[in-house]
Amino acid sequence: MSQLKLSKETWSSQSIFILAGIGSAVGLGNLWKFPYITGEYGGSAFLLVYLFCVLLVGLPLLIAEITLGRAGQANPVQGMANLARENKASKLWSLLGLNGVLAAGFILSFYSVIAGWSGAYFVSSLQGNFISQDVATIQGDFSALLSSPWQLLFWHTAFSLLAVWIVSRGVKNGLEKAINILMPALFAILLILLGYVVASRGFEESVTFLFQPDFSKLTAEAVLVAMGHAFFTLSLGLGVMMVYGSYLNQQSSIVKASIWIAVADTAIALLAGVIIFSIVFGNNLDAASGPGLLFQTLPVAFSEMWGGWFFGTLFFGLVVLAALSSAISLIEPAVSWFEQNWGIQRNKAAWGFGFVTWVLGIGTVLSFNTWSDIYLFSDKTFFDSLDFLTANIMLPAGGFFMAIFVGWVLSKEKLKGELGLQERTLNQYRVTLRWIVPVLVMIVFIYNLI
Ligand code: PHE
Repeated sequence: MSQLKLSKETWSSQSIFILAGIGSAVGLGNLWKFPYITGEYGGSAFLLVYLFCVLLVGLPLLIAEITLGRAGQANPVQGMANLARENKASKLWSLLGLNGVLAAGFILSFYSVIAGWSGAYFVSSLQGNFISQDVATIQGDFSALLSSPWQLLFWHTAFSLLAVWIVSRGVKNGLEKAINILMPALFAILLILLGYVVASRGFEESVTFLFQPDFSKLTAEAVLVAMGHAFFTLSLGLGVMMVYGSYLNQQSSIVKASIWIAVADTAIALLAGVIIFSIVFGNNLDAASGPGLLFQTLPVAFSEMWGGWFFGTLFFGLVVLAALSSAISLIEPAVSWFEQNWGIQRNKAAWGFGFVTWVLGIGTVLSFNTWSDIYLFSDKTFFDSLDFLTANIMLPAGGFFMAIFVGWVLSKEKLKGELGLQERTLNQYRVTLRWIVPVLVMIVFIYNLI
């Protein structure tokens, strides 16, 4: 039997692990995607379904994924191989880890392009480009950005370089240091913005829009989107939380940490929703304007509102920081795999992987302009295809099999040792992983494909 490969790096404390988990979870998903899908699917009813998905599927899976990481004590591929061997299961389980490493690379490739938009908007806002601008100009600016491959490429490159550089420095010197700066800054900016909107005209309307359920607006599609988003926003199904879990010491509580991460992620999405919709309603803009909400709608508000230059710049700065702490977590599964299984130095692994995803990202850059008429899956551009492939296939598949592994394959003693739950709670948790999570994910998955 070959020797088990164990991970050597560890987090300095449980709280830095929680912060890193929150950093991974909170990103474009919370600040860009959540508000616009909530706007598109009618607000509160969608929100309720989403919360339900987070609680019933997201949280149990988050616990399962971190458990797999700490119990497997290695990168996702090797960790699954270690656990499969210990539990006398098929070697093929390591494919689950490989699925994650690949999906993380796919996501990173387009994530970096969209994060790049925020970088462009941060600088643009800083330069005062949104001050007293009319709607047509602002919306035209966004189209101009998307139609320029070189501009998109520039920002995509800048963002990739920054993220890879952080990861190349290691867990303690890179990830932890970045997290320690990024997360407090992010919380502070959110609170400042919240303070601003609470006193604004649109606040009440935004709270009603988000929190007063109107089920007439709920559709089957909304349920699917809500479930997909629960996966994406909690960074589930692709081994990110697994690799973070593999650096967690044995004394830390996985359940507690997971609850913190899920609650903080949800709270920040809600805060972002309240902030964005307050600005939208306060300025009589359209909440259902789709992916452009953050980039076409908000700047209109920033151009008109008091202190718009300051708050606009702060806001796009926030988006960049949040995206950065998520991007580094997308690089880590691959890097730890290259390091531990292939003996490649972290530095080289990070730059190598970063280069590959950067190249792949060019496809996304072009799908907004030169390649906008080139379709891969039916009517989907390169970017839409990657988004679809990851969010609708690879992540749910990853989550499904993780639930199956922890629920059915991992020994109960091991699970008990990792989670330290009371017998009754442990049993309930296992039932959730054995039945509820896989069945719900399967239903959504099949429905999605047809
Ligand atoms: N959770 C991140 C977000 O909401 C995205 C992400 C997905 C990060 C998967 C890592 C892994 O933006």
